[in-house]
Amino acid sequence: MSQSTANRVAEIAADAIAERGSFRIALAGGNTPRGLYRCVAAPSHTSRIDWRRVHVFFGDERCVPLDHADSNYRMANEAMLERVPIPSAQVHPMCHTPQAPEADAKRYAELLAAQIPCTGGIPVFDLILLGLGDDGHTASLFPGTPILQETDKTVAAVHVDKLDSWRVSLTFPVLNQARHLLFLVAGAGKADTVGRVFSPPGAEPFPVQRIEPQGTVEWHLDQAAASQLSTDAS
Ligand code: 6PG
Repeated sequence: MSQSTANRVAEIAADAIAERGSFRIALAGGNTPRGLYRCVAAPSHTSRIDWRRVHVFFGDERCVPLDHADSNYRMANEAMLERVPIPSAQVHPMCHTPQAPEADAKRYAELLAAQIPCTGGIPVFDLILLGLGDDGHTASLFPGTPILQETDKTVAAVHVDKLDSWRVSLTFPVLNQARHLLFLVAGAGKADTVGRVFSPPGAEPFPVQRIEPQGTVEWHLDQAAASQLSTDAS
Protein backbone atom coordinates (compact mmCIF):
# COMPACT_ATOMS: atom_id res chain seq x y z
CA MET A 1 0.00 0.00 0.00
CA SER A 2 2.77 2.45 0.91
CA GLN A 3 4.44 1.97 -2.45
CA SER A 4 1.26 2.56 -4.45
CA THR A 5 0.41 5.58 -2.32
CA ALA A 6 3.94 6.94 -2.75
CA ASN A 7 3.47 6.66 -6.51
CA ARG A 8 0.23 8.60 -6.23
CA VAL A 9 1.84 11.33 -4.13
CA ALA A 10 4.56 11.71 -6.76
CA GLU A 11 1.91 12.02 -9.50
CA ILE A 12 -0.01 14.72 -7.62
CA ALA A 13 3.24 16.55 -6.86
CA ALA A 14 4.34 16.46 -10.51
CA ASP A 15 0.95 17.76 -11.67
CA ALA A 16 0.96 20.59 -9.12
CA ILE A 17 4.50 21.63 -10.01
CA ALA A 18 3.75 21.48 -13.74
CA GLU A 19 0.56 23.51 -13.36
CA ARG A 20 1.49 25.96 -10.60
CA GLY A 21 5.22 25.73 -10.05
CA SER A 22 5.02 24.29 -6.55
CA PHE A 23 3.52 21.48 -4.50
CA ARG A 24 2.06 22.28 -1.11
CA ILE A 25 1.28 19.25 1.03
CA ALA A 26 0.02 18.76 4.57
CA LEU A 27 1.32 15.55 6.16
CA ALA A 28 -0.67 13.17 8.32
CA GLY A 29 0.58 12.13 11.72
CA GLY A 30 0.23 8.98 13.77
CA ASN A 31 1.86 5.66 12.87
CA THR A 32 0.29 4.61 9.58
CA PRO A 33 2.01 7.11 7.27
CA ARG A 34 5.54 6.19 8.47
CA GLY A 35 5.82 3.45 5.83
CA LEU A 36 4.59 5.81 3.14
CA TYR A 37 7.12 8.47 4.10
CA ARG A 38 9.93 5.94 4.00
CA CYS A 39 8.82 4.87 0.51
CA VAL A 40 8.74 8.46 -0.70
CA ALA A 41 12.25 9.01 0.68
CA ALA A 42 13.66 5.84 -0.92
CA PRO A 43 16.38 6.70 -3.50
CA SER A 44 14.44 4.92 -6.26
CA HIS A 45 11.47 7.16 -5.58
CA THR A 46 12.66 10.46 -4.25
CA SER A 47 14.19 11.46 -7.60
CA ARG A 48 10.65 11.52 -9.04
CA ILE A 49 9.86 14.63 -6.99
CA ASP A 50 11.41 18.06 -7.56
CA TRP A 51 11.95 18.78 -3.86
CA ARG A 52 13.07 22.36 -4.59
CA ARG A 53 9.42 23.03 -5.40
CA VAL A 54 7.86 21.19 -2.45
CA HIS A 55 6.51 22.94 0.65
CA VAL A 56 5.67 20.66 3.57
CA PHE A 57 3.14 21.50 6.23
CA PHE A 58 1.28 19.38 8.79
CA GLY A 59 -2.40 18.54 9.10
CA ASP A 60 -2.16 18.33 12.86
CA GLU A 61 0.35 18.04 15.64
CA ARG A 62 0.62 17.03 19.23
CA CYS A 63 1.63 19.91 21.50
CA VAL A 64 5.01 18.48 22.40
CA PRO A 65 8.61 19.45 21.56
CA LEU A 66 9.74 18.66 18.03
CA ASP A 67 12.09 15.93 19.32
CA HIS A 68 9.42 14.28 21.50
CA ALA A 69 8.51 10.66 20.75
CA ASP A 70 4.89 11.71 20.12
CA SER A 71 5.77 14.49 17.67
CA ASN A 72 4.33 14.06 14.19
CA TYR A 73 7.10 16.33 12.95
CA ARG A 74 9.74 14.03 14.45
CA MET A 75 8.11 10.96 12.86
CA ALA A 76 7.92 12.59 9.42
CA ASN A 77 11.41 14.05 9.71
CA GLU A 78 13.05 10.74 10.62
CA ALA A 79 11.06 8.75 8.03
CA MET A 80 11.34 11.22 5.17
CA LEU A 81 12.21 14.88 5.54
CA GLU A 82 15.81 14.50 6.68
CA ARG A 83 16.39 12.01 3.86
CA VAL A 84 15.24 14.14 0.91
CA PRO A 85 16.77 17.31 -0.63
CA ILE A 86 14.00 19.67 0.44
CA PRO A 87 15.19 23.14 1.50
CA SER A 88 14.75 23.29 5.28
CA ALA A 89 12.95 26.65 4.95
CA GLN A 90 10.24 24.80 3.06
CA VAL A 91 9.40 22.47 5.96
CA HIS A 92 6.96 24.04 8.42
CA PRO A 93 6.51 22.32 11.79
CA MET A 94 3.23 23.14 13.47
CA CYS A 95 4.28 23.21 17.11
CA HIS A 96 6.83 25.75 18.34
CA THR A 97 5.40 26.52 21.77
CA PRO A 98 3.99 23.27 23.19
CA GLN A 99 2.84 25.08 26.32
CA ALA A 100 0.86 27.62 24.25
CA PRO A 101 -1.33 25.72 21.76
CA GLU A 102 -3.51 28.74 20.95
CA ALA A 103 -0.43 30.79 20.05
CA ASP A 104 0.82 27.97 17.82
CA ALA A 105 -2.53 27.74 16.08
CA LYS A 106 -2.61 31.49 15.45
CA ARG A 107 0.96 31.52 14.19
CA TYR A 108 0.33 28.60 11.85
CA ALA A 109 -2.85 30.14 10.44
CA GLU A 110 -0.84 33.28 9.66
CA LEU A 111 1.90 31.18 8.06
CA LEU A 112 -0.59 29.38 5.83
CA ALA A 113 -2.18 32.68 4.77
CA ALA A 114 1.24 34.04 3.87
CA GLN A 115 2.58 30.93 2.12
CA ILE A 116 -0.40 29.37 0.33
CA PRO A 117 -2.72 30.94 -2.26
CA CYS A 118 -6.18 31.22 -0.76
CA THR A 119 -9.73 30.95 -2.03
CA GLY A 120 -12.20 32.89 0.09
CA GLY A 121 -9.50 33.36 2.70
CA ILE A 122 -8.89 29.61 2.95
CA PRO A 123 -5.46 28.23 1.94
CA VAL A 124 -5.74 25.72 -0.91
CA PHE A 125 -3.42 22.77 -0.37
CA ASP A 126 -2.54 20.65 -3.36
CA LEU A 127 -2.72 17.55 -1.16
CA ILE A 128 -3.67 16.83 2.43
CA LEU A 129 -2.72 13.37 3.71
CA LEU A 130 -5.04 12.11 6.43
CA GLY A 131 -5.38 9.12 8.69
CA LEU A 132 -8.45 7.75 10.42
CA GLY A 133 -8.87 7.02 14.10
CA ASP A 134 -11.07 4.15 15.22
CA ASP A 135 -13.46 6.78 16.61
CA GLY A 136 -13.77 8.36 13.17
CA HIS A 137 -11.48 11.31 13.85
CA THR A 138 -9.12 12.62 11.24
CA ALA A 139 -6.30 15.09 11.77
CA SER A 140 -7.19 16.24 15.29
CA LEU A 141 -10.89 16.66 14.53
CA PHE A 142 -12.04 14.41 17.36
CA PRO A 143 -15.68 13.56 18.13
CA GLY A 144 -17.29 15.81 20.68
CA THR A 145 -14.64 18.52 20.58
CA PRO A 146 -15.27 22.24 19.90
CA ILE A 147 -12.95 22.27 16.86
CA LEU A 148 -15.68 20.45 14.91
CA GLN A 149 -17.72 23.66 15.00
CA GLU A 150 -14.80 25.88 13.92
CA THR A 151 -15.62 27.50 10.60
CA ASP A 152 -13.69 30.79 10.83
CA LYS A 153 -10.20 29.75 11.91
CA THR A 154 -8.12 27.68 9.50
CA VAL A 155 -6.01 26.27 12.35
CA ALA A 156 -7.19 25.70 15.91
CA ALA A 157 -6.00 24.30 19.20
CA VAL A 158 -8.06 21.54 20.75
CA HIS A 159 -7.85 19.71 24.08
CA VAL A 160 -8.61 16.03 23.56
CA ASP A 161 -10.00 14.91 26.91
CA LYS A 162 -9.68 11.18 26.25
CA LEU A 163 -6.00 11.64 25.47
CA ASP A 164 -5.60 14.33 28.11
CA SER A 165 -3.53 16.27 25.63
CA TRP A 166 -3.54 19.39 23.51
CA ARG A 167 -3.39 19.25 19.75
CA VAL A 168 -3.21 21.83 16.95
CA SER A 169 -5.08 20.98 13.76
CA LEU A 170 -6.28 22.21 10.42
CA THR A 171 -10.03 22.78 10.53
CA PHE A 172 -12.82 21.58 8.25
CA PRO A 173 -12.73 24.67 5.95
CA VAL A 174 -9.12 23.86 5.00
CA LEU A 175 -9.78 20.16 4.47
CA ASN A 176 -12.82 21.02 2.37
CA GLN A 177 -10.85 23.40 0.17
CA ALA A 178 -7.94 21.09 -0.70
CA ARG A 179 -7.46 19.99 -4.29
CA HIS A 180 -6.85 16.42 -3.17
CA LEU A 181 -7.52 14.57 0.08
CA LEU A 182 -5.81 11.21 0.47
CA PHE A 183 -6.71 8.94 3.37
CA LEU A 184 -4.24 6.25 4.34
CA VAL A 185 -5.73 3.58 6.61
CA ALA A 186 -4.23 0.22 7.52
CA GLY A 187 -4.87 -2.64 9.90
CA ALA A 188 -7.79 -4.80 11.03
CA GLY A 189 -8.34 -2.46 13.96
CA LYS A 190 -9.73 0.16 11.57
CA ALA A 191 -11.96 -2.22 9.55
CA ASP A 192 -15.11 -1.62 11.56
CA THR A 193 -14.71 2.16 11.44
CA VAL A 194 -13.96 2.10 7.70
CA GLY A 195 -17.08 -0.01 7.15
CA ARG A 196 -19.17 2.51 9.09
CA VAL A 197 -17.61 5.50 7.31
CA PHE A 198 -18.80 4.06 4.01
CA SER A 199 -22.28 3.37 5.37
CA PRO A 200 -25.02 6.00 5.66
CA PRO A 201 -24.10 8.30 8.57
CA GLY A 202 -25.91 7.70 11.83
CA ALA A 203 -27.48 10.37 14.02
CA GLU A 204 -23.98 11.50 14.97
CA PRO A 205 -21.77 11.34 11.87
CA PHE A 206 -18.08 10.67 12.37
CA PRO A 207 -15.93 13.81 12.01
CA VAL A 208 -14.47 12.32 8.83
CA GLN A 209 -17.99 12.10 7.40
CA ARG A 210 -18.49 15.82 7.97
CA ILE A 211 -15.86 16.85 5.44
CA GLU A 212 -17.43 18.53 2.41
CA PRO A 213 -14.61 18.17 -0.09
CA GLN A 214 -14.34 20.55 -3.04
CA GLY A 215 -11.56 18.47 -4.55
CA THR A 216 -10.92 14.77 -4.99
CA VAL A 217 -10.93 12.23 -2.16
CA GLU A 218 -8.97 8.99 -2.31
CA TRP A 219 -8.95 6.20 0.25
CA HIS A 220 -5.85 4.04 0.26
CA LEU A 221 -6.62 1.00 2.41
CA ASP A 222 -4.82 -2.24 3.02
CA GLN A 223 -6.88 -5.43 2.82
CA ALA A 224 -7.31 -5.66 6.56
CA ALA A 225 -8.71 -2.15 6.89
CA ALA A 226 -10.98 -2.70 3.87
CA SER A 227 -12.23 -6.11 5.02
CA GLN A 228 -15.70 -4.89 6.05
CA LEU A 229 -16.38 -3.01 2.84
CA SER A 230 -18.87 -4.71 0.58
CA THR A 231 -17.69 -5.20 -2.99
CA ASP A 232 -20.24 -2.68 -4.26
CA ALA A 233 -18.75 0.05 -2.02
CA SER A 234 -16.05 0.87 -4.60
C1 6PG B 1 -2.37 12.05 14.84
C2 6PG B 1 -3.02 11.96 13.50
C3 6PG B 1 -4.32 11.23 13.63
C4 6PG B 1 -4.05 9.88 13.02
C5 6PG B 1 -5.08 8.88 13.43
C6 6PG B 1 -4.64 7.47 13.01
O1 6PG B 1 -1.73 13.06 15.12
O2 6PG B 1 -2.44 11.04 15.56
O3 6PG B 1 -3.08 13.04 12.80
O4 6PG B 1 -5.42 11.82 13.00
O5 6PG B 1 -3.99 9.99 11.60
O6 6PG B 1 -5.20 8.94 14.84
O7 6PG B 1 -3.44 7.21 13.70
P1 6PG B 1 -2.61 5.86 13.38
O8 6PG B 1 -2.11 5.98 11.98
O9 6PG B 1 -1.49 5.89 14.40
O10 6PG B 1 -3.57 4.71 13.56
